[in-house]
Amino acid sequence: MKILPISKEKAIELLKSYNQEQSDMNHYLESAAVMKQIAKEIGEDEEYYEMLGLLHDVDWSLTKNDSKNHLTLAPEILRKNGFDEEFINIIVSHGYGYDCAGLKDKKREKKIEFILAASETITGLIHAYALMRGKKISDMEVSGLKKKFKDKAFAAGCNREIISEIEKAGISLDNFFRIAIEGIKNIKEQVGLE
Ligand SMILES: [Fe+2]
Repeated sequence: MKILPISKEKAIELLKSYNQEQSDMNHYLESAAVMKQIAKEIGEDEEYYEMLGLLHDVDWSLTKNDSKNHLTLAPEILRKNGFDEEFINIIVSHGYGYDCAGLKDKKREKKIEFILAASETITGLIHAYALMRGKKISDMEVSGLKKKFKDKAFAAGCNREIISEIEKAGISLDNFFRIAIEGIKNIKEQVGLE
């Protein structure tokens, strides 16, 4: 198991210190929950994966008014909190392909990079679908989520190609949908879902 420099509680405190919108906080907590659930299912380090999900957008609230700067501040913030370069590189890789921090032409290569990018992206789809269902996630089914995935007009900002990168990590889309729903279900009260 990898040693993390700060606890989950401390990481949440760090995020809250940047004056977060509730919707952004929900996104971090959901990303963490999905990552943790995947780690559990594939036998990886649950706390490490959870921390990656939690902190992947650590500089978002500081850069959201100028999205090209997203992920420019994250490395320094993470370094200051004791995270190593390996952790930081994985975090930054979720911005590959986006027009931010000079990352547009970079391509993800590692399994954990595909998993983080897909996980943080699917949270948007699941949260939007849960809201459409009156905030209910407890009885959400894979088949329903799959329909929303195929309906490109639904939660249109949610990048289906990035979600599909999960297959490059050797996890099928169906299995990923099941795991992601399960993960968010575990923390539903914390993110305003039922
Ligand atoms: Fe994110």
